[in-house]
Amino acid sequence: MNPTPTCSSCACGGLTLSGVSVRYRNFTAVHDVHLTIPDCGITALVGPSGCGKSSLLNAINRLTDLIPGCRVEGSILDGAGTELTDPGLDVLALRRRIGMVFQKPNPFPHSIRRNFEIPLREHGLARARVDEVMEKNLREVGLWDEVSSRLDESALKLSGGQQQRLCIARALALDPEVILFDEPCSALDPIASAVVEEHIDALRGRVTVVIVTHNLAQARRIADRVGVFWIRGGAGTIVEEGEVEAVFGGAGDEEARRYLAGGAG
Ligand SMILES: Nc1ncnc2c1ncn2[C@@H]1O[C@H](COP(=O)(O)OP(=O)(O)OP(=O)(O)O)[C@@H](O)[C@H]1O
Ligand SMILES: [Mg+2]
Repeated sequence: MNPTPTCSSCACGGLTLSGVSVRYRNFTAVHDVHLTIPDCGITALVGPSGCGKSSLLNAINRLTDLIPGCRVEGSILDGAGTELTDPGLDVLALRRRIGMVFQKPNPFPHSIRRNFEIPLREHGLARARVDEVMEKNLREVGLWDEVSSRLDESALKLSGGQQQRLCIARALALDPEVILFDEPCSALDPIASAVVEEHIDALRGRVTVVIVTHNLAQARRIADRVGVFWIRGGAGTIVEEGEVEAVFGGAGDEEARRYLAGGAG
């Protein structure tokens, strides 16, 4: 079992979700989620399609603010006790602290260098430091040697796996406390997927990671904790949450147990 680390070297502090619901106009997609996301650990969210995993991730870094008619209720506290759902919060600053990587790699349709320059400049980094931060983070995801001679070429020329590692490096470049990964490997072939998984695994102990995955074996391999989503009363909720081996070893919830054993969902 992967031990859940406690982190004394950075200021992440984990996240605590209490009674979180996400509504799209009259439709409740997520209802009453309670979840502990440990500081600098890896938390996997699993469960069948349509039960609200992406909606919950979007609520954490406030992408839900951008969806007309979407409302989030409940509490999402960071380690310092800041309420992330507070309407008065500086959302740009929050998204710097809480980055996101999506299922489909989404490099900006510009050069590799511009993919770093745009977010880093937007968040106030001096132009003179962009190259240094870019190189550090491309090395972090094992991409530097593959792209260092073509930094001014379009990022869209990279393979899918390279594009996804670029997106992880771009997220890391802002030095986030938390990165939310929404099915980061599901658009990749098995080899590219394994490489991306390895780089996510390497973030343990430095960044708080939340990863949505349909790959139960992947969740079991890399997560410290796991939350299992299921539909209850027409809305998605977390029916089981805990240390990964405890949950996979015998979830208390019958449907979660069958799902984790590969027999349902
Ligand atoms: N922008 C939206 N407007 C209205 N309903 C939405 C919106 N986004 C998601 N939903 C609905 O909310 C529910 C949860 O969707 P969500 O995408 O969060 O599920 P998911 O668990 O991430 O699914 P998947 O595993 O297929 O990605 C679904 O019924 C979906 O149709
Ligand atoms: Mg989703």
